[in-house]
Amino acid sequence: MDNLKPVSAGRDITVAIIQARMGASRLPGKVLEVIEEQPMLWYVVERTSLASSIDRVIVATTREPADDSVANWCEDNRVSCYRGSEADVLDRYYQAAKESGATRVIRITADCPLTDPAVIDQVVSEFCKVGADYASNSSPYSWPDGLDVEVFSFAVLERAWQEASRKTDREHVTPFMRSDSSVRSISVEGAVEPDVKDWRLTVDHPDDLAYIRAIFRQFPGRWDVPFCEVETLIRDTPEKLPEPPGQIHVANEGHYKSIYQEAEGEIAPRLTIEQSEALFTRVSKVIPGGAQTFSKSHLQHIRGVSPLFLDRGEGARVWDVDGNQYIDYIQGLLPNILGYAHKEVNAAFTDQLARGHSFSLPHPLELTLAERLCELIPCAEMVRFGKNGSDATAGAVRIARAFTGRDRIACCGYHGWQDWFIGSTTRNGGVPEAVRELTHPFPYNDTRALEAVLSAHAGEFAAVIMEPFNFTEPDPGYLKKVKQLAHDHGAILVFDEICSGFHFGLGGAQKLFGVTPDLACFGKAMANGFPLSAVVGRREVMNICEDVFFSFTFGGEVASMAATLKVLDILENTPVLDRIAGFGRQLQDGLNTLARLAGLDDRIACTGRPSWALLQFSDADGNSCLTTRSLFQQEVVKRGILILCTHNLSGAHTDSQIDRTLECYAAALKTIEPWLRESDPCRFIEGEPVQPVFQVRS
Ligand SMILES: Cc1ncc(COP(=O)(O)O)c(C=O)c1O
Repeated sequence: MDNLKPVSAGRDITVAIIQARMGASRLPGKVLEVIEEQPMLWYVVERTSLASSIDRVIVATTREPADDSVANWCEDNRVSCYRGSEADVLDRYYQAAKESGATRVIRITADCPLTDPAVIDQVVSEFCKVGADYASNSSPYSWPDGLDVEVFSFAVLERAWQEASRKTDREHVTPFMRSDSSVRSISVEGAVEPDVKDWRLTVDHPDDLAYIRAIFRQFPGRWDVPFCEVETLIRDTPEKLPEPPGQIHVANEGHYKSIYQEAEGEIAPRLTIEQSEALFTRVSKVIPGGAQTFSKSHLQHIRGVSPLFLDRGEGARVWDVDGNQYIDYIQGLLPNILGYAHKEVNAAFTDQLARGHSFSLPHPLELTLAERLCELIPCAEMVRFGKNGSDATAGAVRIARAFTGRDRIACCGYHGWQDWFIGSTTRNGGVPEAVRELTHPFPYNDTRALEAVLSAHAGEFAAVIMEPFNFTEPDPGYLKKVKQLAHDHGAILVFDEICSGFHFGLGGAQKLFGVTPDLACFGKAMANGFPLSAVVGRREVMNICEDVFFSFTFGGEVASMAATLKVLDILENTPVLDRIAGFGRQLQDGLNTLARLAGLDDRIACTGRPSWALLQFSDADGNSCLTTRSLFQQEVVKRGILILCTHNLSGAHTDSQIDRTLECYAAALKTIEPWLRESDPCRFIEGEPVQPVFQVRS
């Protein structure tokens, strides 16, 4: 094996450094484990060497006696080997790169025997094309875990080597450069189906190794099999392989462990929130509740600890009226899918403002946007616009009632503030009894319960309206069965996609799960914070709007529509939704790992899909618990994280913000862990705990 290519003087030298050591905690000696007669390291070196962008391949191992076997293997196989520090992997990389004269470094790990030369070349090519300092395809993952590639300049490596002081930065080589805002970083897009990015093809555990061995067994003698063939094997003939290990193991667990080890479990100092408090005293006199929604009010935050008013936002960050800065995981209750003050979206909005936006007759933009939604959303043949999500859900209910000539509604989830829905909750003050009686909630994933609801008033239901998906996966066939039940009972099926629309893909949950309703409602993320919602659906049903009163002054306001068209362009043509999913996965895996390390995995869990995941807080008996939530929220907000119970991510969140968030989570968990073990953890809440609004979601 010869992994040195001739290099002419004066040009860039690209060196792939493969970090390898025998001392892995979960699978010691894994790098020399045999796969089809060759050690794993051989595959990594051979496959990496095939990348045309690489001049040299070096194995970087440690000086520990246990790693003599790695060094000996390299010597026997004429592979360049550098031996350096065990714990300071950043130093090991730096010294290896320096010694080899590298101007550009590729980081590969020895537990990825399916590393693919074409993928390496792609990342290097993007790195060179845009003149980046750092490029990767793993933040967020745009290829499966196991095909990750990081490329960086020697200059950036040298700076990290000089300046990084935290243990985690030295142990994991690239966190420092990824979090340094002066480093020009890019994320390289993959060319695989969305689900493939979640595959796990790295080797950390015995079952990972068994899976990789089984893959190579299907390609006898073909150590260089390209990933596209592996993808076809996994997708088309999964029965030839063991159970995929992806569902069991967490990617980058070591990184989360380092974050946990470094976190200080000390009580964070209180924030200065004098201006917030002063405004709150005034606002209570003129605005009942002090806010325009319960979810933004003081009830949802620790009064006396958390800010009550924000002053400005930029990207994923917000500043409160006292000047404190936060990474925001509320994002205006989900709308800001591209982050605050997005330049292109705001420009689309203001361009339209300059030409007028609330016209006396319809405007062609209404048509353009309606046509666009009909292309994107499976059930959409016709469209009507509203402002709030509640306009859309109330509109859909009225349309269904008019179409069927019936009154009753079966519902599942949250559907807004209008009488028809809110009358079915505990916040039903002001809703006439006659209206309340017409709405019948049913639980998710329980077709029998729905059947019972519909049968109890057979022939009287106008619609079954539901959030098709939020945090709980639909059981196989569930949504299809709901559609069938609704239709069997002569009711219209309405999907409320106010939240699922766009965060889970441009076609909403109906596209994701392949079940097309009669009507659907969209809102929230449509216009990146500008007010716009829509009822879309089957022509035959929607046409009833010719007669039904779904009609209001601002329904045709077009600056928000101009913003929406820009949002859709960006979501369709850039990897924003992948970024959101990738960061969501890191936060979810990270929080769950940190909670486990803190011994709090029975109290705090992040569930659902990473694109929009739920934080669940429990007491010692496993019941939903506002005290646990209050303590967590208190300790993270003091550290600069603004959050309710979900990870509302935007395309503007960054790698370093995700790492920073996990550091805050780790410190908060260490701080509250002893409190939660006490009989009265409530006494550690430094203000007024979070209050319930009502619970309708599972
Ligand atoms: C699923 C769902 N439907 C409807 C609504 C109502 O939307 P809006 O508050 O914009 O009226 C919401 C708001 O949170 C929602 O989450």
